[in-house]
Amino acid sequence: MSLEEILEKEDLGIEVLHPGGLEITKELAELCGINRKSKVLDVACGTGESACFLSETFGCEVVGVDASPIMIEKAKKKAKMRGVERKTTFILADAHKLPSRIIPLTLLSPSAPSAFSTKNLH
Ligand SMILES: C[S@@+](CC[C@H](N)C(=O)[O-])C[C@H]1O[C@@H](n2cnc3c(N)ncnc32)[C@H](O)[C@@H]1O
Repeated sequence: MSLEEILEKEDLGIEVLHPGGLEITKELAELCGINRKSKVLDVACGTGESACFLSETFGCEVVGVDASPIMIEKAKKKAKMRGVERKTTFILADAHKLPSRIIPLTLLSPSAPSAFSTKNLH
């Protein structure tokens, strides 16, 4: 069983699953010049921790995409609990077949470096 599968099934209190944690997320967002006018795409968003953090910290809108329905549900619940549900959208989709409506966003995805390079599409 993979770590992701374990996290889908168990509530281990682990919310961030990328190297460097939220510290590197913040650094990357600052490098990309994310602000309250930004619309950010978080590919493989998992439980939505980075998406909620970005919205809370920078006031930006975030679209999180993940292939796991369980992760998407967790992310939606989390956004509601944290009061950022109006700034965040979570979509069940395969990162390799992203719906065209979400392409023109700033791509910020520290957890999917093998599939994407980070690029600012503003
Ligand atoms: C290691 S977790 C990272 C979660 C989150 N980004 C974080 O940093 O905490 C990887 C996530 O990628 C998702 N994932 C794996 N393959 C995917 C794909 N092809 N499309 C979208 N999401 C995918 C998994 O469901 C899982 O939630």
